[in-house]
Amino acid sequence: MCGIIAYIGHRDATPLVLNGLKRLEYRGYDSSGIAVLNGNLQLLKRKGKIKDLELALEGTHMPGKVSIGHTRWATHGEPNDINAHPHISSDGKIAMVHNGIIENYDVIRKELLTKGYTLESETDTEVLLKFIESIKQENHFDLEEAVRIALKWVVGTYVIVLIDQERPNTLIAARKGSPLVVGIGDDEYFMASDALPIVDHTRDVVYINDYELVIIEEGELILKNLGNERKTPLIEKLDLEIAAIEKGGYEHFMLKEIYQQPDTIRDCFRGRITEESSSIQIRGIEDHLDKFVSARRIIMIGCGTSWHASLVAEYIFEDLCRIPVEVDYASEFRYRNPILDSNDIIFAISQSGETADTIVALEKAKEQNAFLFGIVNVVGSSISRITHAGTYTHSGPEIGVASTKAFTGQLAVLYMIALKVGLEKQLLSQKKYSELLSQLQSVPKKIETIFETQINNISSIAEKYCQSQNCLYLGRGYQFPIALEGALKLKEISYIHAEGYPAAEMKHGPIALIEDNVPVIFIALKNDECYEKIMSNIQEIKARRGKVIGIITEGDSRTKKILDEYIEIPECDPVISPLLTVVPLQFLAYYMGTKKGIDVDKPRNLAKSVTVE
Ligand code: F6R
Repeated sequence: MCGIIAYIGHRDATPLVLNGLKRLEYRGYDSSGIAVLNGNLQLLKRKGKIKDLELALEGTHMPGKVSIGHTRWATHGEPNDINAHPHISSDGKIAMVHNGIIENYDVIRKELLTKGYTLESETDTEVLLKFIESIKQENHFDLEEAVRIALKWVVGTYVIVLIDQERPNTLIAARKGSPLVVGIGDDEYFMASDALPIVDHTRDVVYINDYELVIIEEGELILKNLGNERKTPLIEKLDLEIAAIEKGGYEHFMLKEIYQQPDTIRDCFRGRITEESSSIQIRGIEDHLDKFVSARRIIMIGCGTSWHASLVAEYIFEDLCRIPVEVDYASEFRYRNPILDSNDIIFAISQSGETADTIVALEKAKEQNAFLFGIVNVVGSSISRITHAGTYTHSGPEIGVASTKAFTGQLAVLYMIALKVGLEKQLLSQKKYSELLSQLQSVPKKIETIFETQINNISSIAEKYCQSQNCLYLGRGYQFPIALEGALKLKEISYIHAEGYPAAEMKHGPIALIEDNVPVIFIALKNDECYEKIMSNIQEIKARRGKVIGIITEGDSRTKKILDEYIEIPECDPVISPLLTVVPLQFLAYYMGTKKGIDVDKPRNLAKSVTVE
């Protein structure tokens, strides 16, 4: 979703901001722009990719040491040069970039029109900027004061960053509900939507909180609340390598991230499963173990792939911990008037830690005294800071829009928590616990076996079926959420319509879709307790001339015989198996997408970090 980068210092700002915009490309966008102060206020905006902006910059001289840049993901108004950010005030002196949505923009817009302001674009951003300008002019305030007053009237979410020709050595920014990080270099400062454009320059960062205002002026960082009181900035160290945010020889970030999974899962276990593999120690859990043991109910919330991880967790926690689990889309949970109390634990699962739907759901749960636990990948992100406790997945930066390694990281954390709580509640014998723990630790090696034996096979299957219009993904029990995840991956990056269902539900409706050009992907593992039933479900498809691709247990010759195509995975305990079965489905989606010529890292319309509700 929209990305912001800003610079103030001693270096030529335009190339720095342009490179920052390239680092933010992965968030998803449809236009971009830069404004720079150099005595005048200079502006350049382009619909399309950053390379279109770069091309336009080649013929433009934009010197200056203070600059703001933006990648826009359209909300109000179609993607075009006019709606792109930065926007400029009526007097041409102030430029502003914005990430978020101003919900009462229409009321403000009407008021501005009555006052004689004209609006060039269809955006809520221009409305907010001109509202700030009107307050500044009518009250003879300086920009900082006008921003503070304006934000008191605003309903919605924002990160805004402004530059002003009348204060040429100043950056002003504010945040509510969208992320903002400030990087502190040597006599220079950076501001960005996340740490990725900052790590090229410095590791010292300050994460800005909601309702905070940042003013960088004459080399000093001033942090205030909207009541104009000074606050002390908390400087933290970024733990992020530049290599981690580059492709490292892979054709796509998505491919790199799929291949990283054995290592990211090992990283997730590191320091948490003890050397002798006898116990699990997770700080976020240790400190609150009694809460988990006595929990009346766990409610899992998330969106998209993270919601699928929650669905797997429902099976895991009910099996291993006998704690009732509810799973809800964060966006629905928020608006369904949930009944909660302090015996409920809310698990918020999120790769980015910035998903607006999940954040507002957490705020709702907090009001009702529930205990909030975050499972998040991005260190320092909003969800990691608003939850009472939590665990990082340590999957490293996920740049590909389609989530892969973050999903297996989320599952790895959920398994460790469930095993720990199950043992603590004496529901798991030491023997069963050790067996499952050892199965869990064998996962990275087994994923490597899939890499070694199945990639050419999956690529050929993708070649054969990539022109399909529709696909069905079916699985039962632990494999049902994986069927959903497989279908989501395919939709996102190949634009093929795909649906996931519990295999038994097929006969209640989706079977009407079956014909010979609709591939059906079954997850049919030999040691699944529903194996025989799944075999019958496969026969039902075959009887209707459907094509069936199976994810099966290595060497299962009986299932192979009835399938059109199969992908074999190493044998694994059914409880742990989602960590394996998802991997061939990630590859299948990747190859289907790339064989159709789609840029799988930046599929159309999608944003990596969805910071609007
Ligand atoms: C799918 C995908 C999205 C995200 C969803 C939640 O590949 O990436 O469905 O899973 O937008 O994002 P996070 O996990 O950042 O809260």
